[in-house]
Amino acid sequence: MRVTVHRKAHFNAAHRLYRKDWSFEKNHEIFGKCNNPNYHGHNYELIVSVTGEIDKETGYVIDMKVLKDIIKSEVEDAFDHKNLSVEVSEFENLNPTAENIAVVIYDKIKPKLNKNFDLEITLYETPRNFVTYSGE
Ligand code: NI
Repeated sequence: MRVTVHRKAHFNAAHRLYRKDWSFEKNHEIFGKCNNPNYHGHNYELIVSVTGEIDKETGYVIDMKVLKDIIKSEVEDAFDHKNLSVEVSEFENLNPTAENIAVVIYDKIKPKLNKNFDLEITLYETPRNFVTYSGE
């Protein structure tokens, strides 16, 4: 039996969406308010979903304490109260859109998990806008 367990987490972070190789006008047209040169913040809500077999001994797919600690070290400690555009190396040359942040989170967490697990990242940038990524 393969079961999916989900762990929620949260971080606040600032960003600016723009491309250095585009004019201000083009950046404004594509990214709108998210191109604000003075940055702006979001309250990101994260759901980390791990799918795997139930361990016969423990009855768990994964110990939630283990998953919680991975999320803390890889995401919360790395992103919370940071300016993603300025302070987080993964976004030095990558626009910190919700899409790209989800892929970066996936790539950080996946190597920390048992290879038999499937991982899906759900990232809410606003209560109404969210993305999912599962390594496809
Ligand atoms: Ni934004």
